[in-house]
Amino acid sequence: MSAALAGVRIVVSAGPTYEDIDPARFLGNRSSGKMGFAVAAEAAARGAQVVLVAGPVHLPTPAGVQRIDVRSARQMHAAVLSALPCDAYIGAAAVADFTPRMTSPQKIKKQAGQETLMLELVKTSDILAEVAASPQRPRLVVGFAAETEQVAEYARDKLLRKRLDLICANQVGQAGAGFESDDNALLVISAEGQQALGPASKQTLAGQLLDLLAERLA
Ligand code: PMT
Repeated sequence: MSAALAGVRIVVSAGPTYEDIDPARFLGNRSSGKMGFAVAAEAAARGAQVVLVAGPVHLPTPAGVQRIDVRSARQMHAAVLSALPCDAYIGAAAVADFTPRMTSPQKIKKQAGQETLMLELVKTSDILAEVAASPQRPRLVVGFAAETEQVAEYARDKLLRKRLDLICANQVGQAGAGFESDDNALLVISAEGQQALGPASKQTLAGQLLDLLAERLA
């Protein structure tokens, strides 16, 4: 393994966030953390100093990685921003876009005859866009885009809107890629063009992505 990232500080986010409704229930998503953990592991193996901000996942901490566990989008936001400054931020986490306005301190009970329940959700902070707009902006800000359709088009929109250097688009909702799977395929898009990586294991893809980042950081 090369030491192409020696001396480089990288912050990676991985996994889902859980937004609590009450002590028994939450809103979450299907991210296992595998993609982000693979990026963190490969970056550390290449000599980078890696901080991994992890949502609730069941994965061991990769060797040489400093891990900060969080649960909610709000906690992930605070942990990522407090890990700055860094040379590169890689946002592989599937952060909830909305969270309940109120978390009930007690389990919400069904009322007799109740057929519906209204939950009021409020927007979370966009961690990736804030990192990209920060006075401590890393030299590279890399996002991921999980899409079920028009993958490249939606990802390109996020690249521009969130002012990213690169975005890694991946298709979700199909077996063998995206959420939970050990394998994935990425379309890495920048202002200069795009490059398809995979299909391959998430570990292999992480290595290929870090090769691209190392070139840009050199
Ligand atoms: O964890 P795995 O099971 O291995 O699955 C990997 C993955 C599919 C989760 C991963 O490859 C991936 O695509 N991660 C991003 C998922 C996502 O939530 O994409 P998005 O299109 O909703 O968000 C776009 C980008 O903005 C992401 O970099 C996300 O981290 C970031 N974001 C989104 C909302 C928010 N409030 N803050 C953010 O930083």
